[in-house]
Amino acid sequence: MTKARRRFEVRQIQPRDFHWLKDFDCAPLTIERDSIYLFFCVHFRDTSFVAYDSESQRAVGFVLGFVPAGSSHAYVHYLFVEESIRKHGIGRALMGQFCDAAHNLGATTTCLYTIRESKFYQGLGFTHHCGPFDTSLARYVADVKGAHLMTATLPLSSPPVRYLCP
Ligand SMILES: CC(C)(COP(=O)(O)OP(=O)(O)OC[C@H]1O[C@@H](n2cnc3c(N)ncnc32)[C@H](O)[C@@H]1OP(=O)(O)O)[C@@H](O)C(=O)NCCC(=O)NCCS
Repeated sequence: MTKARRRFEVRQIQPRDFHWLKDFDCAPLTIERDSIYLFFCVHFRDTSFVAYDSESQRAVGFVLGFVPAGSSHAYVHYLFVEESIRKHGIGRALMGQFCDAAHNLGATTTCLYTIRESKFYQGLGFTHHCGPFDTSLARYVADVKGAHLMTATLPLSSPPVRYLCP
């Protein structure tokens, strides 16, 4: 008997997603992280997404991002894909949905900082550029945090994918 392939979809985040978001990220969280996740699940739903297994409905990853009111710069706060299901296009699909939503809200660039995943973001079209931040902030992020500020122009050249079958 052939095993059915798992199918993954991406949808907008919902307030109830907070419960598994915190479980992914080593619950119980510090109060600061709790409140940040709550803000995204409630107030930044237009630009935050969840990837889930369409059969079991189980979440496997998320992206939390926002566009400040009246700004043309979007920001990614955090992107995460469950370890067992990485390298199947889910991170790309989540980022695609976020960038598409941010562009629809008027953003022309998006910025983030990353410690280890520069190559992944370069593959999506991000470059090492400090975006709306000045170079002293970029230096702080690099020297003190060991991270890189990266920026991409929107829309991304590759269109977002909604349905994935690894
Ligand atoms: C970074 C992360 C979200 C990537 O998710 P993913 O689902 O594995 O990524 P995808 O499968 O969509 O990868 C898209 C492309 O990037 C490549 N890629 C993925 N991870 C990579 C890595 N660490 N280094 C280099 N390339 C990578 C893939 O091979 C794929 O290339 P292709 O399109 O040529 O086939 C995931 O590794 C993760 O959750 N890491 C831990 C949390 C984290 O570090 N988040 C980022 C915080 S800034």
